[in-house]
Amino acid sequence: MTSPVTVVGGAGRTGRLIVADLLAQGVEVRVVSRRAGRAADLRSRGVATFDADVRDGRGLDAALAGSAGVVYLVEPGTANSGPDRPETTLYQGVRNVLAACSPQLERFVLVSSIYVTRPDHYFNEWGRLLDWRLRGEDAVRASGFPYTVVRPSWLTDEPAGRAGVRLERGDRGDGKISRSDVAQACVHALSSPAAVGLTFEMYTDPGVAREPWEALFAGLAKEPAPGG
Ligand SMILES: NC(=O)c1ccc[n+]([C@@H]2O[C@H](COP(=O)([O-])OP(=O)(O)OC[C@H]3O[C@@H](n4cnc5c(N)ncnc54)[C@H](OP(=O)(O)O)[C@@H]3O)[C@@H](O)[C@H]2O)c1
Repeated sequence: MTSPVTVVGGAGRTGRLIVADLLAQGVEVRVVSRRAGRAADLRSRGVATFDADVRDGRGLDAALAGSAGVVYLVEPGTANSGPDRPETTLYQGVRNVLAACSPQLERFVLVSSIYVTRPDHYFNEWGRLLDWRLRGEDAVRASGFPYTVVRPSWLTDEPAGRAGVRLERGDRGDGKISRSDVAQACVHALSSPAAVGLTFEMYTDPGVAREPWEALFAGLAKEPAPGG
């Protein structure tokens, strides 16, 4: 596992699960939050917290300096204009974080969403949220960094490992997935060679056997290189 890992959004619900998984593996963890001062519980577990807002990028350089891995999972605003429009977090924020990464970055894991390639979905009525999420994905895929784009379906708080998980490509499905499973996928994607260059959707599926993450990643076809 690469170390340190910066979790942008690591004080959120899925983010905290990722942080816990990383700490359990002995990884040095940094968390970016707009309210780092309130994350005393994370600091007490040895996490370095950084006060930063991805929308303007201030504070990101220190959080990303020398990081070997990044997980980006930021909840967007849904306004049609102003600082809480989705563009600021789902696109500009991604670009700001990519710009602050060191050239030696070994893995960038972006948490996106299903529906991103379905612009007629009602989510897009909120400040073109889906269009901007897709633009953020495109920025990661074009960054030159080894990446994985994870597109969860509807998030639940079920414990991980209860049911099978189905990974898909093509963004045609619908369903749900637990935050714990998304966290596990992100953590494994940070170190799995099979996950490099993958964009996939995630669904819980009681009809399939639980498989190791490496096998799930390897089962997905690799994407063509950008422009290739
Ligand atoms: N809910 C769903 O069904 C669903 C489905 C698919 C994908 N997703 C996506 O999955 C991810 C994880 O979801 P979740 O429910 O676990 O998220 P969450 O608990 O709402 O946490 C999201 C984090 O985003 C951070 N954040 C928001 N704006 C920020 C900014 N301007 N700068 C820095 N950090 C900012 C917040 O950090 P601070 O408040 O600490 O600053 C928060 O910790 C999100 O990206 C979400 O959009 C959700």
